[in-house]
Amino acid sequence: MTEPQHGDRPHLPGPSLYPIAFAAGVACILVGLIVNPKIIVPIGAVIAILFGFLWARDATEEFRGEPVHAIEPESGGPPESTDAPAIPANQGEDAMPAPEPGERFPRNRFLEGATLGLGAVIGGLVTVPAVGFMIVPAFKGQGYPKVDLGPLENFTEGRWFVTKFFMHPGSDGEVSHRTAYIRNNGQLDGEPSFTIISNRCAHLGCPVQPNGPVQDNQKKEIDGKAGQRITMIPVIPAGGYGCPCHGGQYDVEGNRVSGPPTRGLDRYEFSVVDGHLILGKPYSVTRVDGEGKTARIHKYKLAGPGQHVDGWEQILYPLQPPH
Ligand code: FES
Repeated sequence: MTEPQHGDRPHLPGPSLYPIAFAAGVACILVGLIVNPKIIVPIGAVIAILFGFLWARDATEEFRGEPVHAIEPESGGPPESTDAPAIPANQGEDAMPAPEPGERFPRNRFLEGATLGLGAVIGGLVTVPAVGFMIVPAFKGQGYPKVDLGPLENFTEGRWFVTKFFMHPGSDGEVSHRTAYIRNNGQLDGEPSFTIISNRCAHLGCPVQPNGPVQDNQKKEIDGKAGQRITMIPVIPAGGYGCPCHGGQYDVEGNRVSGPPTRGLDRYEFSVVDGHLILGKPYSVTRVDGEGKTARIHKYKLAGPGQHVDGWEQILYPLQPPH
């Protein structure tokens, strides 16, 4: 019986740490997307590209005609003599067919390459869209259109109104329904002043309710452009606002008073255009000192419910997908 010849073995690439380093780079990218996309993602990308390149270079070495690493003999000593003379690899029943003159890529190597390439293409086709659909929407800006809430005269000075409106009346309909508590504070330095508080609880986002009578019998509905419909109901939130989900309580300016919320209620920017109140972007608030038009608002970029925007806890929320 004769030992198998090297020519009978499949052409497998030698052991390499490059795939592991490449996978570590990809893992680094995915973790970086959650933790810190500006620093960790580029580091992961460099690792993945570098080791991916080295891996591909290693795996295609034979096809590129570069010298193949020497194959070590299986034992250090001279081959043991056998009674029967060894059959040369190109002779006998199992002999490989001799390559055609001028043939650079034998069929088995072509099949190996084609299998690896096809596997990579199929893997990419399956993985990339799934990962894309999973990650990209979280980073896509939702956008905050300017919402016309109607003429200033509708907002009686000093009164609060539960104001309901659509963010995207034409495209998203009911899904974009929002509610804000709005008070006309009168004039401040010759400019109109409004307090516009979001009803989204700063704990987990439930709609907070006013702790005071809602005057449904004075409800007004105003039709705006492009399907917009504004509903205004006078309210007296004398006791501030309460959240029905876990009991979070806020004062009338939206400051957290008790319960699990991490900060005050979010607010909206506003502007006045042609005598109409125009709602702007929402923002987050840690607290408000004072009341009404003279209030000092500690304002932050909009954060999700439950996220700290100040104090040491904010380091736990380095990345905040758009809301
Ligand atoms: S969602 Fe408001 S207290 Fe929990």
